[in-house]
Amino acid sequence: MIVYYNGDYIEKKQVIISPDDRGFLFADGTYEVIRVYHHRIFRLDNHLQRLRRSLQEIEIDHMDVSFLRETGETLIQRNPEIARDAVMYIQITRGAAPRHHEFPDQIQPTVYAALSRCPVERNQIVRGIKIILQPDQRWGRCDIKSIALLPNILAAEEARRQDAYEAVFVRDGIITEGTRTNIAAVFNGQVHTHPIGHHILGGITRDIVLELCGKMDIPVIEKPISEEQIMLADEVFLMGTTTEIGPVIQVNEIKIGEGSPGPVTKQLRKAFQGLIDNPDQY
Ligand code: PDD
Repeated sequence: MIVYYNGDYIEKKQVIISPDDRGFLFADGTYEVIRVYHHRIFRLDNHLQRLRRSLQEIEIDHMDVSFLRETGETLIQRNPEIARDAVMYIQITRGAAPRHHEFPDQIQPTVYAALSRCPVERNQIVRGIKIILQPDQRWGRCDIKSIALLPNILAAEEARRQDAYEAVFVRDGIITEGTRTNIAAVFNGQVHTHPIGHHILGGITRDIVLELCGKMDIPVIEKPISEEQIMLADEVFLMGTTTEIGPVIQVNEIKIGEGSPGPVTKQLRKAFQGLIDNPDQY
């Protein structure tokens, strides 16, 4: 497996990361997960735009990330087998320096990018999935794609233990998002989802779904959904780079709708598949 590390394309096992790297010591960095379908990078511009924003918010802002397009293309060429259906992971940390909390002077960011197989199988989700609700113990800037993911990891592990695909966070009685997905619910043919702000990540898949809703005349209401309301939804679905659009048929022990993927979710999944199948839409 050939990966990108600080300007070089090398075997993954040859990557040497300093124990002083602030990603390792402080989780002082940001990341992106981008889908690669049929050897092409899906919605790269949107991901790079979000990466620029995260970098700006955490003040690693002297870096131009435009070169990552070429990096992605080179990784696809060097790893053709995997690039049929993969994820491209990019991580940028502030860099390596002796451990002090404040930003060190003259530090070079550490940049790593690699392809790997998508961790989600489509047939794992197509018939519908269970989610559990968990308290949102994260910080106040969930809009920044921080590599500090401990609350997400703990909640995801709890979901696994309860045979659920995903854990979805609840903050002050409001459904925010999943550990690695955004969430929406359908009430009377209208799609409801949490508005953009500091309590959720502005998901690229969420943006695409809202775009598709616009094209398909499906009304969208960007308004918080309460913990009580979600149990009464006609349909619920997750949105994310690895999950795509995941039909939710159970929340905790409560069945959603008919207990099978609903018509709006199915319609959106079909339209999303249409985008994947059409590289002009990338
Ligand atoms: N997660 N919310 C959170 C907290 C996320 O971590 C993600 C993505 C999303 C969905 O965003 P997008 O549609 O841009 O993938 C929402 C990635 C896939 C991950 O951490 O693996």
